[in-house]
This record gives sequence, structure tokens and C-alpha cells, in this order.
Amino acid sequence: MSAILEVTDLRCSIGGQPVVESVTFSVPATGITAVLGRNGVGKTSTLRGILGLIHRRGEVRLSGERVDALPTHRIVKRGVGYVPEDREVFAKLTVAENLALAERQRNPRREFVAELFPDLVNRRDQMAGTLSGGQQQMVSVARALMNDNQLLLVDEPTKGLAPKIVTEVADALEEAAKTVPILLVEQNLEVVKRLAHDAIVIDSGRVVHVGSAREILDDEELTQRLLGVHAERPADADTAAPSPEAHS
Ligand SMILES: Nc1ncnc2c1ncn2[C@@H]1O[C@H](COP(=O)(O)OP(=O)(O)OP(=O)(O)O)[C@@H](O)[C@H]1O
Ligand SMILES: [Mg+2]
Repeated sequence: MSAILEVTDLRCSIGGQPVVESVTFSVPATGITAVLGRNGVGKTSTLRGILGLIHRRGEVRLSGERVDALPTHRIVKRGVGYVPEDREVFAKLTVAENLALAERQRNPRREFVAELFPDLVNRRDQMAGTLSGGQQQMVSVARALMNDNQLLLVDEPTKGLAPKIVTEVADALEEAAKTVPILLVEQNLEVVKRLAHDAIVIDSGRVVHVGSAREILDDEELTQRLLGVHAERPADADTAAPSPEAHS
């Protein structure tokens, strides 16, 4: 299958400090690909490096074309949507205003977004800051879906959400992935198992494993070794972060 994104020897630093040592992986042009790894191993930095939000070296190809020398706005213009960790909605603006600000193209996908998030339609005049965490996450995903992107980068969308809302966010991502490939950083392994085809495991700023998400997560010893958690404990699956957030 052709790759939408090819990352080769990506190295990233923040303030001169290396945060990604060297990651190499590719993302297929359809479906959801997961990025897994313990806290602080460089998952968020990898996404930020791809977008040029932090200093990076190495090669990044989008649909075969190099984008690693481009500034962030030009990468976004080529069709890379970003749903950051911790959401980031405009708290003092309404839901409708948040969505309107995300529209980049002549014909934004308003109907698609409205169908996917009927609750946001009902709350269009509500201040985003007064929404629940789950609803804010929906706004954040909806913003990225307004435009025809080639790829979405989604960082820990279920973090800190109640189990029922986790399911709703996962439903939305599953539906969205029918229209755009998604590179998904996710610590909830039940969600990964349900959504992701392939998984890339990062440890200490390097890719340490690539393979079928199910194969990794069905193998308890491998999961334990790569992620330091057990895949098959439903009690763990309900919390977003499997280990304490020591590094964030
Ligand atoms: N703004 C920053 N300044 C300095 N170091 C940073 C900064 N942001 C992250 N780091 C460091 O870079 C490394 C990778 O962090 P990153 O946030 O990419 O990891 P992560 O895998 O996304 O972690 P988490 O699971 O907590 O979200 C960590 O050691 C972190 O302490
Ligand atoms: Mg992170």
C-alpha cells in the first residue's frame, strides 16, 4: 500500500536539547496508524517535528514530496491537520466561532462535521470554555475535519476523558478515518486495538517496534516490554494514561 507520510531519520530538538533521537516510519494512505510509547519518549515531539513546530532534521515526505524544509503554515496548507494534546479550543469563543476560524477552504466540510458531531450543532452558541472535556475534544477534532486534509495528526484525544466519552471520541475518529488517514498518538490500548491497523512504538526518541497493532497488544509479554503496561486489564483501559505522567 502507498504511504501518505514517510519519515526518515527525523531528529528533533527544543532549545538545543534533543527530544527525538531518530525516528523512521511510514504511514499508509488509509486508516489509522497508532504511535505508542511510555510517557515522555517523544511522541508529541515527533508530531510537532513533522509539522515543523520544533527544530528538526531528517526527511519528511507527504505524498512522496519533501516537506521537511517547509515552514509549518505551508505544511498545513498541503493538507496536514493537527489535533494537539490538551485540545486547545478558544475558551471565550462559541463552538460555531471555533469551527469558523478553522475553515481554510472555499467549501468547508460543514455538513460532514455536523453529521459527525450533532451535539456540537446543538451547542453552537455555547462558549467552548464551558464545554466538558469530551465536548472540547470533539470541537478540536471537528476543527481539523473542516478541511480536506491528506493526513491528520491526532495527539492523545481520549486523555483524561470518562469511559463513555472515550467511546464517543473513538467512534468519531473511526468515522473520520473513512475520509482521511490518521496518525494517532494514544495511550488507551483498548482504543488502539479497536481503531488502529499498524502501530509504531517509540522509546527514548527512537522507533523500537513497528507492526500490526493487534499483534503487539495481543502479546502480553511484548506489550509489557515495549510499553510497560498490561494490555488486557480493563481497569487500566479506562484511564487515559497507563503510567504516571512523570515527564509531562
Ligand atoms: N518544551 C520543552 N522543553 C524542553 N523539553 C521538552 C519540552 N517538551 C518536551 N520536552 C522533553 O522532550 C521529551 C519528549 O517529550 P514529548 O512530550 O514529546 O513526549 P511524549 O511521548 O509525547 O510524552 P507524554 O506521554 O507525556 O505525552 C521529554 O523528555 C520531555 O521532557
Ligand atoms: Mg505527548
